[in-house]
This record gives sequence, structure tokens and C-alpha cells, in this order.
Amino acid sequence: MTNAETGLNKELLWWQKTIAYEIYVNSFMDSDGDGYGDINGIRSKLSYLQELKVGAIWLTPVYASPMVDNGYDVSDYYSINPLYGTMEDMEALIAEAGEKGIGVVMDLVVNHTSDKCEWFINSSKGKDNRYSDWYIWRDAKPDGSAPNNWRSIFGGSAWTWSEERGQYYLHTFAPEQPDLNWEIPEVRQAVCDIANFWLGKGVGGFRMDAIPYIKKPYGLPDGPADAPDGMVSVHDMTVNTDGILDFLKEFKQKVTAGKDIFTVGEANGVGPDDLKYWIGDNGVFDMIFEFSHVNMEFTGAEVWCQAREWTLKDLKRALTASQTATASNGWYPVFFENHDKPRSPGHYFGDADPVLASKALAAVLLTLRGTPFIYQGEELGMTNVRWDSIDDYNDIDSRSQYDTALDHGFEAKDAMEFVYRFSRDNARTPMQWDGSDNAGFTSGRPWLPVNDDHVNVNAQDEMQDGRSVLAWYKTLAALRTENHVLTHGDYREVMEDSDSIFAFVRSDENDKLVTLVNFSGTDQVCDIEVEEILLSSYQDGGSIPGRLRPYEAVIARLP
Ligand code: GLC
Ligand code: MG
Repeated sequence: MTNAETGLNKELLWWQKTIAYEIYVNSFMDSDGDGYGDINGIRSKLSYLQELKVGAIWLTPVYASPMVDNGYDVSDYYSINPLYGTMEDMEALIAEAGEKGIGVVMDLVVNHTSDKCEWFINSSKGKDNRYSDWYIWRDAKPDGSAPNNWRSIFGGSAWTWSEERGQYYLHTFAPEQPDLNWEIPEVRQAVCDIANFWLGKGVGGFRMDAIPYIKKPYGLPDGPADAPDGMVSVHDMTVNTDGILDFLKEFKQKVTAGKDIFTVGEANGVGPDDLKYWIGDNGVFDMIFEFSHVNMEFTGAEVWCQAREWTLKDLKRALTASQTATASNGWYPVFFENHDKPRSPGHYFGDADPVLASKALAAVLLTLRGTPFIYQGEELGMTNVRWDSIDDYNDIDSRSQYDTALDHGFEAKDAMEFVYRFSRDNARTPMQWDGSDNAGFTSGRPWLPVNDDHVNVNAQDEMQDGRSVLAWYKTLAALRTENHVLTHGDYREVMEDSDSIFAFVRSDENDKLVTLVNFSGTDQVCDIEVEEILLSSYQDGGSIPGRLRPYEAVIARLP
């Protein structure tokens, strides 16, 4: 293959060369003492992000919202949630971030709205107003039951009865999150209008929430029951339905084509084989978050109590598949954490020391080909929480998954174990800025408890410690900037057969670097001849070629 074919020498765009960072707004930084993170809190931490070489921040939704799903239920796309600040604050954030070379990326939540959105309020009123068909309404079955047997992602039927309209409406997620009807041209236009409004404010791109669900299969058929409740997951029935790309092509053409911004779709269920239709020259987005490497426990719908075991080979296979699928077409957003996933040390390394685990994964995150997405606190090595009772959990998904586990016959204490392992609240505890009572996140009472480990795991201490997780992230970020091969080079997996080591080579015409990561708790031999060891996650100068210590990550130059 020539360079033109592999895309190796293509000049990369700003968002391909940078590091992106996800901010869970509720939990990042509270400026006004109400216990909730806010926009002015983010403004006060821009220098911190700049030191990490972050060039794009994706904010979870900041629009007006009743907060049933912490902002993923939008009631007005044209105004800012008062909990987070004002439109002026948002404009100031966009301007100040811009001065520091940081693009602000909006979360566009348009599979559904809040049930408090004007559009839904009007749609509920009857069958003869402008918004009547903007949502998915169906009559009850003759016996009064729901139109089909789909189960929503947060549990229970995906249909809720509206007394007012005398029909059921469909919701992929909670009943307070009714799905928009994308078949209606006015709905698609309304979505484009929202995005264009925010582009007018100067945002750097969009993360497209829950996007593979926007198209429903014709006739909304029943599916084969997948559990004792007789229902089937709406995920399995609607994900990536034929025709979805036509909707998204329209969006691309009317909103994003030719603009110096990026789009990243959240596309759980769109696997590496489909990437070519979704991204690249003929695709609809610049990147998509596909989930095959973070959801190895699940085949389809994520039912926590049905999680399967996985091995390092599964992880390696998934990562290599997506790297290969984006080798010459499209671009890959590398990520291990986000606000819907548990913290990564426990997820990928079990009981290993979280500092070593975090550093090992960081080496992968920052040296794979693509744009790394760091999730807030990942760069500190933040870990999961274990709270006593399910009532201590805020996350709507955790509470429904707990009930699901009980329905499947698990004892309460076992149901809690699934929550400990997978709860979205694991990643949502306040950002740990320092070792004080509320971790420097708020002067008030935090909306969600701070993780006890903030006494040791926090930004202030880690800034002073050359061997901290944060220091290691900064070292890796500098390495990326200084080595063209890490942004532009291609990817090749090596030692594929190893059950303990993940190893891959990045190469261009002038350089060849290898990343070697020991995922096991014992010493491992690796017979790769290296010219020079550049970095080791042990940061002690004690690495020797041919051997990896427990959970050690090494980056080396090849001859
Ligand atoms: C996405 C979000 C998640 C939210 C869901 C519904 O998966 O990341 O947090 O609950 O969509 O909007
Ligand atoms: Mg606040």
C-alpha cells in the first residue's frame, strides 16, 4: 500500500492531534457552593486542563433539564441549566477555552427529550397540533396493554400510557425521556437548528448521545423474550436499524459538512465491521465511540447480573479490530472510561494496585492510534466506590439494574455486588482536587458523596509527586506531542498469542515505537528486541529489556 492509500502522510486535523477530555459537569468543579459542578467551576480549571495538553472538552449536557437522568433529559435546548449557570457563563467559557486552544464540545441529546420539553407537552395534548407526531405514539392493545414487548434500557416497559392523549408513547430510556420521531422531517430540521445554534456560539463539535437508536424498525414488531418478564431489550430491537444513516447524512449535510469541528457519535452496538459506514469520507461522523472493548462482559443489552467473564485476549482482539477498521478510513476515539462506566483500574485489572493499573492503561490510552478521550479523574487514578445500600445510589440505571438482579433471583447482597462492579455512580463521584473534606470540589454539600480515597488520590498532591498517576499522564502527553509517530504512525499488534501482555508497534517512515503492557501480577518475559527504553510506568529507571514487572507498561524505540 502507498502512503496515500494508508493515509499515513495525510496532514491531520486539530482534533486528531489533540487530547480530548470528558467533563461530567455535575461533578467537576462547583463555583457557588450549591454542591453541583457548574460552568464557572470549569472556567476556573482551564489551566489544569491545558497542562494536560487537552485541546477539546466534551461537556455532558448543560441545557435546561429536570435532571431525571442528570441532564440527559433536555427540556430546552436553547437555554442553560440554571444549576450550571447562564448563557453568559457559557459564552465566557467558550471564549476563554478558545484562548487556551481548547474547543468546547456539546453533548447533543436528540434520540429523546425530557417529558417537560414544550414539544412533548404539546404532543401529549392531542392528535391535531404541530407537535402531535413528533414522538412515537401508539394505541393500546385491545386488552389495554402496551403496543409491544420492548423493555426500556433503564428497565420496565419501553411504553408509558398518557392519560391526556389516550395513547402510549415510546421511550428507550426512562419514562421521562420520550423518544423523538425522526421519521418526521420537521423533527430532523429541529435537530439541525439546535446544532446550528450552538455552532453559532462557537462550539468545537458535538458528541451525539445514544445515536444508534434514532431509527425504529418498521411496524415496531414484538421480539423474542430474552428474560422471564417476557420482554426483549429495546436495544436489541432498535440498534443500528437500516435507514438510520440516511437521517444522519441529512444532519451532516445541513450542519457539520465542511466545518472545522468534529462529531463523535455514541454508538454502543455499532461494531468495528460497521465503522466504515459511520465514519470516514463516506460516513456521517468523524469518529464514533464503539463499545466492543468496554462491554466485553455483554453480548447485547447490558444486564449487569448477566455479565460474563473476559480475558486479555478479548480486550486485545477488540482494540485491534477497531484500530484496523480505522487504519485507512475514519478516525478512532480511544477511551476506557466515561460517565456510564465504572472506573478502569478495577474494571481492567481487578484487585491490582490502582496506581500501577491506572498507569498501565494510560500507556495504552495515549499511544494507540486515534484521539485519546480522558474522563475526569481517570488521570488521577480515581477508583470505584462501595456504598452500603442501594438507596445511597443516585444513578437511575443502578437502581433499575439492582431490581433486575432481584427479579433474576439474586439475593440483595449479591445484587449490590453488581452495583459495586458496574454502577455509573462509580465514575460520577466529585472530582478530587485536594485532600480536604469535600476534595476541594465544593464549599457546600456535594450532590454525591466524595470517594474516601481522595485523601491520597487528588490533583494537588499528585502535582507535587513526580511518580503520581497525574505526572505519568503528563509525561505521556508530552511524549505524544514530541513524537510524530504517535499521532500519525500506523498500528500493528505484536505478541498476539500472549495471555498476559498487550503489545503494539506504532510506525512511520522514520520511527518505530512499541508499547508493552503487562496485564498480569507476575513478571513476564517478552522477546522483543528494543533499541532504547523511553519510559516505564514504574518511573524508577529499573526496567530492563526483555522483562516486564507486574502491571508494568514500557514504551520503547525499536531498531
Ligand atoms: C447515553 C448517556 C447516558 C444517558 C443515556 C440516555 O448513553 O451517555 O448517560 O443515560 O444516553 O440519554
Ligand atoms: Mg454549583
